[in-house]
Amino acid sequence: MLLPTSIIAVLPGTWPAVNVPPPANANYTKLVNISKIRNAPTTKPNATTPTCPTTDTYCYWTCSLCTRNDTDIVNCPNKLDWGLTLDDGPTSFTTSVLDYLDTQNVKVTFFVIGSNVYQNPDILLRAFKAGHQIGVHTWSHTALTSQSNEVVIAELKYTLDAIKAATNVTPKYMRPPFGDYDDRIRDISTQLGMKPTIWDLDTNDWLSNDDKSFQLSWITANFTQWVSDPALKTTGHISLEHDLYNQTAAQIPLVVPILKKANYSIKPVHECIGDPYPYVENVTLAKATTTTTTTTTTQAPTPTPEITPTQPNVVTTPTHTQKTSDATIIFKSDLLSLSFVVVLFFVSLFY
Ligand SMILES: *[C@@H]1O[C@H](CO)[C@@H](O)[C@H](O)[C@H]1NC(C)=O
Ligand SMILES: *[C@@H]1O[C@H](CO)[C@@H](O)[C@H](O)[C@H]1NC(C)=O
Ligand SMILES: *[C@@H]1O[C@H](CO)[C@@H](O)[C@H](O)[C@H]1NC(C)=O
Ligand SMILES: *[C@@H]1O[C@H](CO)[C@@H](O)[C@H](O)[C@H]1NC(C)=O
Ligand SMILES: *[C@@H]1O[C@H](CO)[C@@H](O)[C@H](O)[C@H]1NC(C)=O
Ligand SMILES: *[C@@H]1O[C@H](CO)[C@@H](O)[C@H](O)[C@H]1NC(C)=O
Ligand SMILES: *[C@@H]1O[C@H](CO)[C@@H](O)[C@H](O)[C@H]1NC(C)=O
Ligand SMILES: *[C@@H]1O[C@H](CO)[C@@H](O)[C@H](O)[C@H]1NC(C)=O
Ligand SMILES: [Zn+2]
Repeated sequence: MLLPTSIIAVLPGTWPAVNVPPPANANYTKLVNISKIRNAPTTKPNATTPTCPTTDTYCYWTCSLCTRNDTDIVNCPNKLDWGLTLDDGPTSFTTSVLDYLDTQNVKVTFFVIGSNVYQNPDILLRAFKAGHQIGVHTWSHTALTSQSNEVVIAELKYTLDAIKAATNVTPKYMRPPFGDYDDRIRDISTQLGMKPTIWDLDTNDWLSNDDKSFQLSWITANFTQWVSDPALKTTGHISLEHDLYNQTAAQIPLVVPILKKANYSIKPVHECIGDPYPYVENVTLAKATTTTTTTTTTQAPTPTPEITPTQPNVVTTPTHTQKTSDATIIFKSDLLSLSFVVVLFFVSLFY
């Protein structure tokens, strides 16, 4: 139910149970100086109906859409830049999205779930090699503000590890599931080397999975409206869609032409904010070549390596490997919280 994806491959090694918050790992906790984390209260574990404070001391986006200009990426600054972001993959539906983006020579940003990376590492590697930006979207897609510091660290670090294991790079950008973040989550993310990246335009495409009154045509209608809205002409934008479901992934070939026709330049988020290094490692990224529009060829992009690691393994090797017996214990100790999390997933779905 959570993963509408055929399992193509599984990352080697021992990993936490999928789709539940991973256990705290002391090796990871010590990567963060807890005393430097702003002490926002842990929220109730319900992303759809948060308990909102009367004063927004900790800039809690879920309640106030508050963002911090020193850490958060909110939009693309240049008027005609569009950061197309796709969350919750990689899934089997990501493949058709990648096929389409290749034909268009368009690069986007994927914020990926560690549990899905574990199950689809080959698809993630393909997205990375094609030059798309890979960012962190946690291990289990939990509402981060509802979790302890230690579990938030584990959610982020295990996902960094999974991405590193699949692609050999370490992302510098993360997106909190449900946009659920506050200063505590900002500080943990920043100390782990990642900038929080939110969106300014939301398709709500994920609603289409359970809400039968949701019309898929609203997604393209939203894009058509956004590109013609005078109020949206002063900056570029970051839009939110999902490659988690077949029907939402299938919208990408419909929205890209709308943006192109409106003269928007679709870019990975790191590129639109002027950061040539989306990863800790210094890798040369495949760029969208603007010259292809003047050629008449329709051939697929060259299969030669597009990513050249120029400085591999700058970061230390992940220390995630656990004994199988540890993993078994983790599974058992998580059974109680598992039943709760299943309820949470049914209630709050994926954003
Ligand atoms: C922490 O790191 C040590 C040394 O690498 C390792 O033996 C231990 O298994 C790790 N603990 C966990 C929970 O990963
Ligand atoms: C953690 O941060 C505090 C406050 O800035 C500082 O005093 C302390 O030395 C730091 N600890 C470590 C291990 O870096
Ligand atoms: C960033 O936010 C702070 C606090 O709200 C504000 O004082 C400052 O002017 C802002 N800086 C920029 C560059 O917008
Ligand atoms: C945009 O999408 C929302 C649902 O997220 C929908 O209510 C609205 O009607 C759409 N706008 C257009 C112009 O279709
Ligand atoms: C996915 O969506 C496409 C386009 O709407 C459709 O043709 C295809 O049958 C769907 N595949 C699955 C597995 O649902
Ligand atoms: C896009 O750019 C072309 C070439 O500069 C121009 O002719 C056209 O009017 C522009 N379209 C829009 C929607 O701005
Ligand atoms: C990254 O590698 C390129 C090519 O080797 C080099 O020109 C550039 O200075 C490097 N950048 C950083 C930040 O290390
Ligand atoms: C989330 O909030 C809704 C509405 O208040 C409530 O019905 C639901 O039981 C809550 N779910 C959890 C997991 O607390
Ligand atoms: Zn998500």
